[in-house]
Amino acid sequence: MSILKNHSKLEKNATLLLIASLAVVTVGGIVEIAPLFYLQNTVEKVEGMRPYTPLELAGRNIYVREGCYACHSQMIRPFRDEVERYGHYSLAAESMYDHSFQWGSKRTGPDLARVGQRYSNEWHVQHMIEPRSVVPESVMPSYAFLKDKPLDTSGIKAHLVANKRVGVPYTDDMIANATADMRAQADPDADTSGLESRYPKVKASDFDGDKKRLTEMDALVAYLQMLGTLVDFSTYDEAAGYR
Ligand code: HEC
Repeated sequence: MSILKNHSKLEKNATLLLIASLAVVTVGGIVEIAPLFYLQNTVEKVEGMRPYTPLELAGRNIYVREGCYACHSQMIRPFRDEVERYGHYSLAAESMYDHSFQWGSKRTGPDLARVGQRYSNEWHVQHMIEPRSVVPESVMPSYAFLKDKPLDTSGIKAHLVANKRVGVPYTDDMIANATADMRAQADPDADTSGLESRYPKVKASDFDGDKKRLTEMDALVAYLQMLGTLVDFSTYDEAAGYR
């Protein structure tokens, strides 16, 4: 058998073996890596994604600071039990403006990727103050202090700028109006036309139930209420999404 004979030659010659192995690895590597360079897009096209409003972004920072991700994922997997419970499985496009991702890997509590608009603001506030007053068997800790903590507005502009540097399409207009937009979204008496033109589908409301104060509770509830609400699934082509 000539192949076996030749192979034993290869095995006995270290240099030849090294060159031949390199050749095999190179071909294998090219076959695996090259197609990636010809993919148009690894993130599917969807309608409706926009950057977080300043208030939502502040709420998201509180979510990260408090470690909510230790008990909650934001990643609905394409399995029947998850889709029936939480809604459409998560798309890559839905977290394209997330720095950092909040996908999580631990579900002591339910997935929150589509919790937006599922409950009222009042429910969220009550639930954050005392989870067991609305869900008696809950093991979630109380976050009542958020309602008493004034929201720090001083760093929000810089935070938008930082997000812009890593690719989130915040415009100069959005950055210039960041502090005003942050206040307007939580003030039911404010003129929100500018906010709405900058951030389509934004929900402005007195989230924490206290009109006079802008608190961390306002920001966190604003964030929770927009989770999973941006993508318009009526225009999403499932088959095209996989292409
Ligand atoms: C120790 C684990 C734990 C932590 C930390 C935690 N949660 Fe929860 N969370 C739960 C559990 C368990 C539930 C389900 C029972 C309930 O509704 O209270 C829950 C439920 C929820 C719900 C309702 C979800 C639904 O679909 O019914 C929201 C919203 C929520 N948590 C938000 C948060 C936020 C925001 C934080 C951080 C400030 C947080 N949680 C921190 C365990 C946790």
